[in-house]
Amino acid sequence: MGKMIKFILNGKEESFSGDTNRSLLDYLRNEKHIYSVKDGCSGEGVCGACLVEIDGRPMKSCTIKMEKIDGTRILTLEGLPTNIREILAKAFVSSGAVQCGFCTPGMLMRAYNLILNEKILTRKNIANALKGHLCRCTGYKNIIEAILVAKEALEGQKKIVFEPKKIGKSPPKVKGYEKALGIDPFIDDLYFDGMLYGVLKFTDYPKAKVLKIDVSEAYRMPGVVRILTAKDIPGSKYIGMIKKDWPVYIDETEETNCVSDVLACVIADSEENARKAVDKIKIDYEVLKPVTDVLKAYNGEELVYKDGNILKKTVIKYGKNVEDLFKSAAFVAKRTLKTQLIEHAYLELEASIARVEGDKLIVYSQGQGIFEDRRQLASFLNIPENKIIVKLVAAGGAFGGKEELTVQTHAALAAKILKKPIKVKLNRNESIKMSTKKHPMIMDYGLSCDSTGKFTALYARIIGDTGAYASVGGAVMDRAATHAGGAYYIPNVDVESSAVYTNNIPAGAMRGFGVNQVNFAIETLIDDLCEMGGFDRWQIRYINALEKGLRTTSGHLLTKDVGLKKTLEAVKDQFYASQYAGISCAVKNCGIGNGLLEESKVLVHISDEKHIIIYHGWSEMGQGIDTVATQFLSESLDLDDTYTFEVISTTEFETVGGSTTASRGTYLLGKAILDAAEKIKDDLKNKKIEDLVGNKYYGYYVCDWTTPPEYKGEMVSHFAYSFATHLVIIDVDGKIKKVVAAHDSGRIVNRKLFEGQIHGGVVMGIGYALKENLRLKDGIPTVTTLGRLGLLRSHEIPENIEVLTIETKDADAPYSAKGVGEISFIPISAAIANAYRIYDGCVYEELPIKRK
Ligand code: FES
Ligand code: FES
Repeated sequence: MGKMIKFILNGKEESFSGDTNRSLLDYLRNEKHIYSVKDGCSGEGVCGACLVEIDGRPMKSCTIKMEKIDGTRILTLEGLPTNIREILAKAFVSSGAVQCGFCTPGMLMRAYNLILNEKILTRKNIANALKGHLCRCTGYKNIIEAILVAKEALEGQKKIVFEPKKIGKSPPKVKGYEKALGIDPFIDDLYFDGMLYGVLKFTDYPKAKVLKIDVSEAYRMPGVVRILTAKDIPGSKYIGMIKKDWPVYIDETEETNCVSDVLACVIADSEENARKAVDKIKIDYEVLKPVTDVLKAYNGEELVYKDGNILKKTVIKYGKNVEDLFKSAAFVAKRTLKTQLIEHAYLELEASIARVEGDKLIVYSQGQGIFEDRRQLASFLNIPENKIIVKLVAAGGAFGGKEELTVQTHAALAAKILKKPIKVKLNRNESIKMSTKKHPMIMDYGLSCDSTGKFTALYARIIGDTGAYASVGGAVMDRAATHAGGAYYIPNVDVESSAVYTNNIPAGAMRGFGVNQVNFAIETLIDDLCEMGGFDRWQIRYINALEKGLRTTSGHLLTKDVGLKKTLEAVKDQFYASQYAGISCAVKNCGIGNGLLEESKVLVHISDEKHIIIYHGWSEMGQGIDTVATQFLSESLDLDDTYTFEVISTTEFETVGGSTTASRGTYLLGKAILDAAEKIKDDLKNKKIEDLVGNKYYGYYVCDWTTPPEYKGEMVSHFAYSFATHLVIIDVDGKIKKVVAAHDSGRIVNRKLFEGQIHGGVVMGIGYALKENLRLKDGIPTVTTLGRLGLLRSHEIPENIEVLTIETKDADAPYSAKGVGEISFIPISAAIANAYRIYDGCVYEELPIKRK
C-alpha cells in the first residue's frame, strides 16, 4: 500500500493508494473508466488526446504521475456543466471539426479552457494554443473555426443549427456528437468482464534465424495466463490481402524478415503484467544481414527471397518508340526523383478484442475491410467463416494503414484457445514497427513535348520499396504505373513500375496509393519543360489536360465529363496574380477497377416508423461513410429530419463490403443503398412508411466491367476518376501563404465532410512535402515516437486554405458523387516543390524537400 493521495475528480472526492508512479491517464481510463481521455502517444505527451484540467490548468494526463495530483482538482470532459459540453460538441460537429473523433475530446477540453481564460480569441492565438495537440484528419482549420463558433454560442451570440440530411447539405456527422464527447467508444474504450490482455514480442533484428524462443521465465511472471507462439496456429500461418506471405508468428528455426515480425504473444491479467512478462522472453538468434537497399534488391545483387526480389512488375507501353521520339522532340526533360517512407500516424493505435459467444467468435476490429478480416481470420484459425462475426468499431483514423490484419489475429487466437475476452493493443513504438507504410519510390522519368508545349512521349521506370511482405504493394505500384503520366494526355507511353522486396518494414496502402509519388515526378518534369521551352506553367498544363475523349496513362478512354480544365480555370487568376506560386494537377481513380469483381450489399431495416437501421460492411474511420449512407437514403426516400438512423457495420447479416479505400465505399455502398431505396419506394406506392415497420430490404450492386492492367482490348481501368488542381502561393518571407484546392469530385454529398477531407489531405501533403520522413537504418526505424515523425501542427498550417468545387455529372455514380479522400493529398506536394522552385531558384528532386 503506497501513500494515500486525495483529490477531487469532476467535483467528487477521491482517494488513491496504489502505485504513485502510475500516470493519471492510466488511472482515469483503467480504474475510473473515464474514456474521454484517450491514449494517442503512449505517454510521450505530444498529442493532447489525454488533456484534462488540473486546478484550472490544461495538462496532459499521460505525463502526470499520480503522486503529483495530491490535493488537486481534476476536471475531465465528463465534469463540465451539461450545457457547456453540449455547446462545445455541437460547435465542433457543425463546423466539420470531427472526423475520426479521436483527438476531439482533448480539443474540447482545450477549447473550454481557452474560452474561459482568453478574452479575445483569434484564429492565430487559437492555432498557437492548439500547438500541443495533433489531429491527423482535419487539417486543424475546422477545429479553429469550431472554437470560434463555440465561444460565440456560449456567449449567446450564436445559435448552432444543423442542416438537413440531404445531398449537398452538411448534416451532423453520424455519431459526431458522441465522438466529440468521448462517449462513443473506440476499441480500446471497450471493456468486458474477465478480459485478459495480450502484448506482442517482436523480433529484435530485421533479419535473423530464430534458434530458440524461451518463454519459461516469462511464464513465471505474475498474472501470465498463456504465451502464444507459432506452434499454436491451427490454420494458415500466413496472412495478406492479396498474397498470403506475412507470417503471424515466426517459429524456431525460421528466419525473420523485418522488424514487424512477431515471435510470441503474452496473455496476462493486465497489460502491465503482460508487458513485464514479454521482457522476460529470451530469444537466441543467429543475426543475419538484412537487404535494405532497394536498388541492390531490384538489381538482384542481394537476395531477400530465393524466388527473387520482384513482387510485381507493371508494364504500360503503347504508341511509338519513346526513345526515338525523345531524339526528335523539341524539348525533353529527364530526371531521377525520390520520395520517402512515411507513417500513417492515425491517432488511434491498433487494438482488437475477441471473445467467444456460444459457438461464435466475435472479433471487434478497427480494420478497413471486415469481410476481408473475417476471411483471413477463418483461414488462420482454420474455422468456417460463418463461425466468426467481425464487428467494426469505427477507427480513429486509418488512411490505408488499417487494411492489413495486425492485432486481430492474436486476439482471435487467444480468445479461441482461452474462451475469454482478449484485448491486444499496440503502443506507439510497436505501431510504428508493425504497421505498413507509404512506399518510398525512385523514379527515372523522361517527358518530351513539341515546340508548342504539347506532350509527345513519357518514359518512366519506377521502383517502389515494398518491404518484406506483399501487403497491397503490387497494387500500389500498379497504380503508380497507371497514373504515371499524371492528369495529362500523352500519346506515347513507356512505363515500368516494380514492387521490390527488401527487409524493410512492409509498405502498403496509404492515402493516394502510389499516385502522390508519380505526381511529384511528372509535375517536376513539366516545370522543367517550361524552363527549357519558355512555356507558361499554367498554359502548358491546360493544353495537355485530360478531357472527355482522351486517354489516361493506362489507356482508359474517358467517356464521361472531366472537370480538370475547370479546376485549372478556377485557380488561374490567383496563379497569375502571385509572384511565387506552384501549380500541380492530379487525377485519381476511385478504387474500383482493374478487372476485379466489386460487390456491395446492404440491409435497410425499418425498425419503427421514424427509425431506420442501415447494416453494411464498410468501414467508418473518420471519412464519414456512415453519414453519407444516411444522406443517400434520406434523399432517395425524401425523408425529413424527424427520421433517425443507426448505421452498423458487421459481418453478421451477410451484407457485403470490401476494403474501404479510395472513396470506393461511397460508390459501392451508395449504389447498394439506392437499390434498397428503390425496393422501399416500390412498396411505398401503395403503402405508408408506418406499414413497412419491421421490413428489411437488401440492396445490391456489382461492378464487373472494368479491365485489368494487362488487358489487350479497349481498356476500362476504373469506375470513375476525380480531378484536381492545387495552387500553392508562397509569401515574400518564404512561408506558404495560401493553398487553393480546386476539385472535380462529382457532386458533393456533404459539404463540410468534403471540405474537411480536402483540408486534411492538403495539410498531410504539406507535411509530406516538407517534414515527414520515417528513416530506417539497417531495416530499423530511427525514431519510433509520434512526436518525431514530422507531423504538422496547428500553428504550421497556411493562413488560408481555399476549397473550390467543380461539380461534374457521372451517371454511373450514386448522385454523381466521386471520391475526394485520396485526391486531396495528391497534387499538393508537387505544387509546394514547384512553388519553392520559383522562390528558391532551385529544383527539388526529393521529398521531403530540403530548402536551399
Ligand atoms: Fe497524452 Fe498523447 S496521450 S499527450
Ligand atoms: Fe483529429 Fe481524427 S479527427 S485525429
